[in-house]
Amino acid sequence: MSDLFLGGNTNSVLFATAEFAPAIKVGGLSEASSGLVGCLRSMGVDVDVVMPDFGLIELIDAIETPLRGLPWWCPPVTVRSGWTDTCGPITLLAFEGSTRRHPYVDPSTGHGWPDSDVMFLTFSAAVATLAEQLRPDVVHCNDWHTAAAIALLPDDVRSILTVHNLAYQGWTDPAWASRFGEHGDAYLHHDAFNPLAGGLSLADHVVMVSESYANEAVQETGGFGLHERLVARGSALTGIRNGIDIGLWSPSEDPMLPVTYDHDDLAGKEICRKELLRTAGFEHDRGPVLGVVARFVHQKGIDLALEIAPFLDALPAKLVIIGSGAPELMRQAQDTAAAFPESVHVFGGYDEKTAHLVVAGSDLLLVPSRFEPCGLTQMQAMTCGTIPVVTDVGGLRDTVKDTDRHPRTGTGYVASAPTPMSLLDAVHRATRGWQNARKRASIQRRGMTADWSWAAPARAYVDLYSTS
Ligand code: GLC
Repeated sequence: MSDLFLGGNTNSVLFATAEFAPAIKVGGLSEASSGLVGCLRSMGVDVDVVMPDFGLIELIDAIETPLRGLPWWCPPVTVRSGWTDTCGPITLLAFEGSTRRHPYVDPSTGHGWPDSDVMFLTFSAAVATLAEQLRPDVVHCNDWHTAAAIALLPDDVRSILTVHNLAYQGWTDPAWASRFGEHGDAYLHHDAFNPLAGGLSLADHVVMVSESYANEAVQETGGFGLHERLVARGSALTGIRNGIDIGLWSPSEDPMLPVTYDHDDLAGKEICRKELLRTAGFEHDRGPVLGVVARFVHQKGIDLALEIAPFLDALPAKLVIIGSGAPELMRQAQDTAAAFPESVHVFGGYDEKTAHLVVAGSDLLLVPSRFEPCGLTQMQAMTCGTIPVVTDVGGLRDTVKDTDRHPRTGTGYVASAPTPMSLLDAVHRATRGWQNARKRASIQRRGMTADWSWAAPARAYVDLYSTS
């Protein structure tokens, strides 16, 4: 049955990633990994997931074996294969230094771990060694954390590198090049060892997580210093837009919401909205609620959203923000909430249940990103009947159509640039649009009935697995 569905394609895939939701979740990489893998498995593709053993996942029925044949410089690695209730089958690679409380940053200082390079480069070399033993048809790498594996793969194993964010490249000491064999030099970029750069040059195929991001990436302004390498890949570089995990994001069966609803009856959404207003501590209900769900990093433009706070009361609209990350951005958000307590609320920290309430209970979801490879929250919002207000960048451009420019097909509001003025203009238009019940309902319906699932993107990956 699954073979029929795949047209006879039975490629086996070793999927290497640093994050996998819900077990290890920092950002969108986790949800993109688990969403894609879940969909591929449901299609019958044989996918093994391999991650570093941070010591954060309890495996059920774990089988442990030493990994043989590692490069001379690697510490001993133990392969721990088992499964978890929420992630399914998973393989963890454990070695001295792999254990840490967070994949990237020391939670007590908020700074990146000083040995992230050693950890992820060891992991990458171990992934290549594992591939030598398992002989999958394809190794599917994700971001810089796994991109150095490509240097050491056997010739008959194909490689795909998906780039979720060009801003993170893993720069480190050029001396690492000599540890990655004959292809090690491909990783040298501006006198540093740059795992992402090498992976971009060596992978059989490079995937950017949306078509617009693929177009931005080959330009000097969007390539984060790597555009020339990307241009050189020609047709081996494509964009495949992410999907969302509709098992997790479906208002008709979301156990995290106070009540469920669907596109035929939005009464439940109104209850979620009231619950959100109550949780945020707002006393008055005037105008639409604008939600923001994001990591607190410069990319996400939280500071741009905060600039519109003084105008919210006059629109009228309210702003509710949830996320975690850079302490200085969090302070800035909390100061703004303190200055405008009737218009702005910031949840101090991220939790899944509140994030679902913000996405489903808000009227509008603001995504003020300076750049956005794909973005997932705008799709989650549309599924929940929450109208997205986004900047015109990357995957946001590919998923949201401005309703003032396309009255019959629009799904949200697009700010022409990531600036406070443009955002204010889009939020103003969205507020007026929201007040028009008929217009609002048709935008909501279009967003809720569109297919944001992984089905189509996963099929595009299956095609690549067989042709790359
Ligand atoms: C990164 C990107 C985001 C993308 C996600 C999953 O977090 O910043 O745009 O949606 O990866 O690919």
